[in-house]
This record gives sequence, C-alpha cells and structure tokens, in this order.
Amino acid sequence: MKSGSGSQKIKEGGLHEDVYVPFDLNNPVEKALFRKLGSVVSDDRSKLKEWGAHCWRVALLTTLTAIALGRPMDQAVDYGVAAYLHDLGKFDPEIAHLFRLMRKLTPEEKAQADKHSYLGALKARRIYGDNYEPRKLRLIITGHLTHHIHYGGGWLNEISTSLLYQESGPKFLQGKNIPRIGRIIHVADSFDSMVRKRHYKTGFMSVEESCAELRKHAGDSFDPSIVETFIQILPKFVQREQEELLRQAELEYRPA
Ligand SMILES: [Fe+2]
Ligand SMILES: [Fe+2]
Repeated sequence: MKSGSGSQKIKEGGLHEDVYVPFDLNNPVEKALFRKLGSVVSDDRSKLKEWGAHCWRVALLTTLTAIALGRPMDQAVDYGVAAYLHDLGKFDPEIAHLFRLMRKLTPEEKAQADKHSYLGALKARRIYGDNYEPRKLRLIITGHLTHHIHYGGGWLNEISTSLLYQESGPKFLQGKNIPRIGRIIHVADSFDSMVRKRHYKTGFMSVEESCAELRKHAGDSFDPSIVETFIQILPKFVQREQEELLRQAELEYRPA
C-alpha cells in the first residue's frame, strides 16, 4: 500500500497532523541526527509546514527503526537524513501544485505526482552533490527512488534506473533486493500518512488500526521484518509525541 492510500476511516486515536516530536538529546543517536538535520531542514520547513513536520517525524521513525534493526549509529543517522528529504521532489515546480490540491488525484495527476521520486533525487543531487560524500549522497538518492517500491515487487522507471544503477531501464526490484533505506522509509512514511489528517484527506486511522494495516500488507507492500521492528519502537515514539502536545497545550494556556 502506498502512503496516503487505503481504507481510511475517521477515528479517535489518530495523531496530531503538525507536531515536531522533540528529539531525545540524551540519546547519542538522536542528538547526532538532530545536529545533522540542522544543516538541511530550514528551507523545506518554512515552505510548507505540514510536509516539514511529516518529514521530521519520518526521519526520527526511520532512525529509531534502523537502530532497532542493528544498524550502526552513523548509518542510522544517515538513514534519518535521507528519510527527512524523501519528499523533496514534491516541491518541484512541475508538480508542486498537485500536492496542494484538496482532493484525491485523478489517475493522470497521480502519474505526474509519482515523478516526485526521481525529481527529488535529481534535486538532491543538485543541492547536496558538492557537500556530501558520495556514499551519503547515494543513500539520499536511493531513499528517494525506492521509498514507494512494494516489497512484493515494483519497477524503477528508466530515469530512476539510470540514476541508481547507471543502467538503461526499467528495472524490477523485489523483496530484499529493494535497498533497505527504501524499505524502512516506505513503512515509516505510510504509517505517518495513515495516522494523520492531511490537507488532501479528511479520514485517518488510529495507531492500532495503522499497525494492523501495516501487518496486513506485510509481504506484499512492506518488508515483514521491518514492520515488526517498527511496531516495537512505536509506543515510545507515540508517548513522546503525546507528551509534546501536552507541553505545547500547557504553554498555550498558561496564564500571563
Ligand atoms: Fe513519496
Ligand atoms: Fe512522505
């Protein structure tokens, strides 16, 4: 299942759509990610707040999942940066208007919107090509190109294949052949879209329903082992988000 699709129902128990979950700065991994993101976030966040908060959460969820999967700290942080940037292509002038529409896209519009994967990869190469070491830039580009590939199998189009493998395409990817960064972002991104209201949809699922949806599609859309690891790290994340919302509410209503 792709992010933002599926049987969304209005339910109590979804999560707030616009909250920047604070990083735990006592945790060395999260502190490193927080610092690293500081160098890449500013422009995107101010452009469109909803996407900014979404990308922030997907970055944290991806990093926590990567650590729980046994990735070394440096790599988990790099995964988080790649995850933060996964929606960069949605700001491309050619297609940006589609992501501001307050309705479901037509099939033709959807085909256009799907270009955000490689448009984002090209943009990342332009923006970060000079400042990032090639291995890290490759991870960012890989995250862009593969975060919508289904575990059961999916195609990279010709442009994506040439960007990722320097081969003429298209190329079919399936299961563990899909790069790990893409498999993790796919789960984190889909969860975050299911569980929240967004400007283009009114319904959303509860945390429990979203986890059930991830499990239901494990094996066809999602990597089953990543789904289970993701569901294990989730309670702490949800708790932190709720604590942050309470803290913000208290600040708002504190008497002068
Ligand atoms: Fe995407
Ligand atoms: Fe996303």
